[in-house]
Amino acid sequence: MESRTAAEPQRYTVPYLPVGTRIDEREVEAVREVMLSGATLSQGLVRRRFEEAFAAHIGVRHALSVTSGTVALELAIHLLDLAPGDEVITTPQTYQATIQPLLDRDVRVRFADIRPETANIDPDRVAELVTPRTRAIIIVHYGGLPADMDALMRIAREHDLVVVEDAAHALGGLLHGRRPGGIGHIGCFSFHSSKNITTLGEGGMVTVNRDDWADRLLRVRGNQSDMVLTSRRRSFGGSTSAPPGALYPSEAYTHDCLTLRRAGTNATLSEAAAAVGLVQLEKLPGLVARRQAVAARLTAELAEFDAVRVPVVPTGVEHPYHLFTFFVDPDRVDRDELVRHLAAQGVETYLRYFPLHLLPEWRARGHHHGECPVAERSWFAEHMNLPCHPGLSDTQVETIAAALTCALTKLRRS
Ligand SMILES: Cc1ncc(COP(=O)(O)O)c(C=O)c1O
Repeated sequence: MESRTAAEPQRYTVPYLPVGTRIDEREVEAVREVMLSGATLSQGLVRRRFEEAFAAHIGVRHALSVTSGTVALELAIHLLDLAPGDEVITTPQTYQATIQPLLDRDVRVRFADIRPETANIDPDRVAELVTPRTRAIIIVHYGGLPADMDALMRIAREHDLVVVEDAAHALGGLLHGRRPGGIGHIGCFSFHSSKNITTLGEGGMVTVNRDDWADRLLRVRGNQSDMVLTSRRRSFGGSTSAPPGALYPSEAYTHDCLTLRRAGTNATLSEAAAAVGLVQLEKLPGLVARRQAVAARLTAELAEFDAVRVPVVPTGVEHPYHLFTFFVDPDRVDRDELVRHLAAQGVETYLRYFPLHLLPEWRARGHHHGECPVAERSWFAEHMNLPCHPGLSDTQVETIAAALTCALTKLRRS
């Protein structure tokens, strides 16, 4: 038998990311229908139906679909109208896209540490960081577990701040009857294929209640003009006749007369992607239920070991388990050894996320080690993410459980 060379990638019995397993004939049929309908494949009725269904699910007035979660966050930050010297408070425990647009702006980012029991932003730390220049708080519902929105919204009200919810992980979650992404002022979602639902692999959504913000989003999302047709008379500066050599007949209305008010982009979701999104949104309760069942099995296995703990899910909260996270006690278990043991047994694990403030781009702006000790300790010694998605078979879930027990028994320091 040939031995594996260093260049060969490890093959996992239990891969971390889902691969196409949540898609079936319903999505394929929905795409087929759109493609063969003869109707437009851009900016049509399917996208509008997807947005209306999404807005109803989240409980907001407006949902605008876009091409990714990253774009959703870019547009959300655009709405903040940040001026040089303004400050934004955010969490270090997230993916770069959450605040990536701030890298190009002359604003100060302040990282508020996380709570050890949830890995979500700590409202007490947020309150300490508010200054007269603070304009917004950008939070993440880490792994899908809703952040303490009651406390965060109280701080926001007190200081007149805008709260942006990065709800990329949290679709299908609930916080005292409300949907993450619909509690703050702006919600952002991702439909990347790893997420709780997908729209052909890439996609996103921005949710708002304010009509004027929805209007602005509409313009920046799709090069939307004012749709005000200006008569030739006005375009030619009051003269009733066209200048010599003009191509247009005297009273014509032309698309040249449509006006764009502000800079924008084209980030619209295609009809085919929206059709998949509609089917996936209907499947969401089942997809989340499967994530929760996998999480319940893994939580039960971990309950046998007092050197590990899972995040605390408060009463009244529904955790959709985009990520299954747990924490080891570093005095009793070497986390990195645990990763290696699980890999050797075919279980792929990921650590999410490297503390944002320690990434080179944020260190170059003065952020440093020691700024968020809870997030740093979590990343360097405590936290783990196990595979948890609807594509896992019961056999794969049992493989994870058995590998965990084997590794934790072996690695337990007495
Ligand atoms: C917390 C968070 N925000 C934003 C994004 C960006 O979403 P997308 O990949 O759709 O651009 C991700 C993607 O992984 C994410 O995990």
